[in-house]
Amino acid sequence: MRLRDFGLRNGINEVIVITKGEKLNTAPIGIIVENENSVFAKSKLFPSHTRSNLEKGSFFVANVVNDAILFALATFEDLGEEHFESLDPPILRGSLAFCEFEPKLEGSITYLKLLRGKVLRNEVRAVNRGFNAVIEALIFATRLKLNPKFAEKIKECYEIIERCGGEREKLAMEIIKEKTGIL
Ligand SMILES: Cc1cc2nc3c(=O)[nH]c(=O)nc-3n(C[C@H](O)[C@H](O)[C@H](O)COP(=O)(O)O)c2cc1C
Repeated sequence: MRLRDFGLRNGINEVIVITKGEKLNTAPIGIIVENENSVFAKSKLFPSHTRSNLEKGSFFVANVVNDAILFALATFEDLGEEHFESLDPPILRGSLAFCEFEPKLEGSITYLKLLRGKVLRNEVRAVNRGFNAVIEALIFATRLKLNPKFAEKIKECYEIIERCGGEREKLAMEIIKEKTGIL
């Protein structure tokens, strides 16, 4: 068993991480992989519900997802149970794979050891710049308070989403517009 079996490759892998506090928490998180043939990875966690749940002993389950709407919703709120196809283990509807990690927090870094995982779907999709632009826009949206100039970057992403995205990318863009107020 190794990270790449579940789609986690060298570099930063954007996934949706599910943790548990009083209820299930979902958040996009980058999993940093230096050796995809190993079971070890890490992530840098800023203060968030994800982080405080881990501090209280929560599990850490990563879902590999290629749905722009799920990414957009999970960025701004927690996905409700209707978005899950399984609660134990927690798997979002349409998830391509899930991986459960043992998390160990050390300062801002969380060291991760793969415990188990499963590929759920083998879907082929060519690179879509609209999807990538949704992810970029979401990253800028979560950092908007740090730098208001990111509003312009988000607008540049909208242009790409309009030109290259499919329906789900365009719906994700509407969510970003609604949640950030950047039109
Ligand atoms: C694609 C993407 C990747 C992200 N990666 C991280 C990350 O690696 N670490 C982190 O602390 N926040 C990351 N964020 C921001 C969190 O997802 C965001 O702050 C979220 O609202 C936290 O939710 P929570 O408070 O429910 O845990 C990322 C956001 C996006 C859109």
